[in-house]
Amino acid sequence: MTILLAFESSCDETSVAVWRDGALLCNIIATQIASHKRFGGVVPEIASRHHTEQITLCIAAALDEAAITPEDLDAVAVTEGPGLVGALLVGMTAAKVFAWAHGLPLIGVNHMAGHLMAASYVAPLEYPCLALLVSGGHTELVWVEKEGSYQKIGETRDDAVGEAYDKVGRVMNLTYPAGKTIDDLAHQGEDIYNFPRAMLKEPGYEFSFSGLKSAFINTVHHAEQTSENLENKDLAASFQAAVLDILVTKTKHAIAEYRPKQLIVAGGVAANQGLRERLASEITEIPVLIPPLRLCGDNAGMIAAAAAVQYEAGNFIDLSENAYPSLSFETL
Ligand code: KG4
Ligand code: ZN
Repeated sequence: MTILLAFESSCDETSVAVWRDGALLCNIIATQIASHKRFGGVVPEIASRHHTEQITLCIAAALDEAAITPEDLDAVAVTEGPGLVGALLVGMTAAKVFAWAHGLPLIGVNHMAGHLMAASYVAPLEYPCLALLVSGGHTELVWVEKEGSYQKIGETRDDAVGEAYDKVGRVMNLTYPAGKTIDDLAHQGEDIYNFPRAMLKEPGYEFSFSGLKSAFINTVHHAEQTSENLENKDLAASFQAAVLDILVTKTKHAIAEYRPKQLIVAGGVAANQGLRERLASEITEIPVLIPPLRLCGDNAGMIAAAAAVQYEAGNFIDLSENAYPSLSFETL
């Protein structure tokens, strides 16, 4: 039996989970979204302060809910990057102190590996597999040749897809984070604006969303100047149609070239219903694994899943290790 205690604090969720032999005994998540909402995005300094307030409460709640004591644990795992440096340091420090105090080994986990491995709670991963990782900070296609090996085959040149959702949401006067609201609105509207689908015809697996975001903002500003009334639902449907065309087309090309056994779609934007519908209808040749909604956003349960692979491989970090805000997978 192996029991891991996992920490996640890279952005605006403080989370502590207990993992035992492939299952989560608990996954405590303290979200800070309410505090960041009025600023229209995550304020790093506020995020760090909230993590500091919440982390020990989350540890206590996790041990309590899992009904274990520190003596039952085999290792401590923590997100070491990428993310906000101050936020990461709170989790890293708490994890180090906990590991040191209880004489436990420490595992440093890449946040994006965590998002990807959240899919392992749905079904066992079969290698090689391909992952489309879509979150507020990242948009990348990752090749997983074997367990624990993550190589980027392409990523965004500019905005991440979740970031684009949140930025156009602001222009539509929606509250942060706007992804889910735009997804809901998109289902009620029509794709009538024909926004650009950048880099669709180009070879390779790079993404770009800044042109789409600018086209969207220009359309709204132009309408404001001419006192034209645009429907948010049609704007949302048009934006989402462009995003999904880009994501799904590039992913299909990568499947055709790399021939993975499974496709994993993970990260906060994997909660998108429109994306789930298009993947289900367009990718039928291999299984598509998408974590359940509660494991799509940031949480320590996903960090535990990635950490379990590293635990088996004996891949531990030293207590002198730091946090790495721009930690990234190698490029294939
Ligand atoms: O992975 P995540 O929780 O945090 C990061 O690591 O970035 O992702 C948060 C992002 C936000 O930008 C949010 O707007 C987006 O995920 N998101 C969605 C949906 N739900 C959350 N985007 C599109 N459709 C959704 N249903
Ligand atoms: Zn994330």
